[in-house]
Amino acid sequence: MKIAVYGANGYTGRLVVAELSRRGIGTVLVGRGLARLREAAAEAAAAEAETRVAGVDDTAALAGAFRGCDAVINCAGPFVASGEAVVRAAIRAGCHYVDIAGEQLYLKRIHDTFAAEAANAGVTVVPGVNDDGLPSDLIAHLAARRVAPVTELVIALDLTRGGAAPSRGTLRSALANLGTLTGGGLTFRDGDWLPDVPVRRTSVVFPCGPEPVPAARFPLPGVVTVPRHVPARYVEGVVGADLVAAFSAVTPELVDGLPDGPSEDARLGGRWTVVAEATGRDGRSARGVVSAPDTYGSTAVIAVESARRLVVDGAEPGVPAPAQAYDPTGFLDFLTGHGATWTLEVEPAGRDEAGAVPGGTGPPGTARVRSC
Ligand SMILES: NC(=O)c1ccc[n+]([C@@H]2O[C@H](COP(=O)([O-])OP(=O)(O)OC[C@H]3O[C@@H](n4cnc5c(N)ncnc54)[C@H](OP(=O)(O)O)[C@@H]3O)[C@@H](O)[C@H]2O)c1
Repeated sequence: MKIAVYGANGYTGRLVVAELSRRGIGTVLVGRGLARLREAAAEAAAAEAETRVAGVDDTAALAGAFRGCDAVINCAGPFVASGEAVVRAAIRAGCHYVDIAGEQLYLKRIHDTFAAEAANAGVTVVPGVNDDGLPSDLIAHLAARRVAPVTELVIALDLTRGGAAPSRGTLRSALANLGTLTGGGLTFRDGDWLPDVPVRRTSVVFPCGPEPVPAARFPLPGVVTVPRHVPARYVEGVVGADLVAAFSAVTPELVDGLPDGPSEDARLGGRWTVVAEATGRDGRSARGVVSAPDTYGSTAVIAVESARRLVVDGAEPGVPAPAQAYDPTGFLDFLTGHGATWTLEVEPAGRDEAGAVPGGTGPPGTARVRSC
């Protein structure tokens, strides 16, 4: 098996190359600077790996760089700027494709525009396989199945970074999507994705969190992917309001002054948690939680395993959501071997009209995520 990594010399690209090397998977580092690619290969214990240079402005050259590979893992963000070109080149080269984008509007665009092209080429394109997009889609699928038919699904994300800043690439992508991040992005309601829908969940209790924290609507990937396999009338994404405030304060000057990314110690000290809470028409609710240390390391593990499964197990050609491309339980169980935990609980009906649950953890409107 041979997998190409585009943007291989970036902060996360290097972790992806190291993970491929650790797993003994043939790797081709692709990007726009040969010296940077060679340096990245050496740093990731993959000094013997092939390097190929191609930019995003020449589809034929980029497809040529991917030719002979079974899959492409795209780590070059901001994806709103360059992602489509890489998808197009991967399809043209006959490669399966995954990327680590967290940019909601980009993800929607790939799902909306490339399905037929990918299907015709017999390849599978799964954008958004990172520590947020893939686990939230899988756990939402499992939670929804337990209480189907579902009327409402809320996805929540919590990131603790142990005091470390996110990578410079993360913040560059945040800047490229700032209006969407601060405006809250899309909500799925009655069959369509809409901006500016007032948030329903106004506070959230995360596992290990002592109190309900104020929640804000946030452009999470799951809002775009989950309605493709869960027939819910309403899907929204929320985070703690402080995360939105932090993104709002990002400026180009701040980003330029940052290092590539957190040190290894700081990276390992962080934690990501995704929560999916599905409410069934009968009033029952199911709550799934997936959590693990190390945002960027988890993203590398998830991206490599996602690409590997497309090559080895196959999936329907086209642009499926993660839960359509992979067995949700099997993939989440795989992640437990990499420090993740996942749980799924079902509660009987019992909300009052305001949405509160007797004995619940927060006021009406609180996403009912129990402490750990
Ligand atoms: N949960 C999540 O949502 C999540 C988790 C992890 C990562 N991510 C995303 O992954 C992306 C990468 O993050 P990072 O920290 O690894 O960033 P980074 O260190 O800045 O690396 C970006 C890489 O992309 C390449 N690149 C950027 N723009 C390009 C363009 N127009 N054409 C060709 N190559 C281009 C860069 O190449 P040069 O060196 O040639 O500039 C570099 O190799 C970001 O979008 C980040 O948000 C998301």
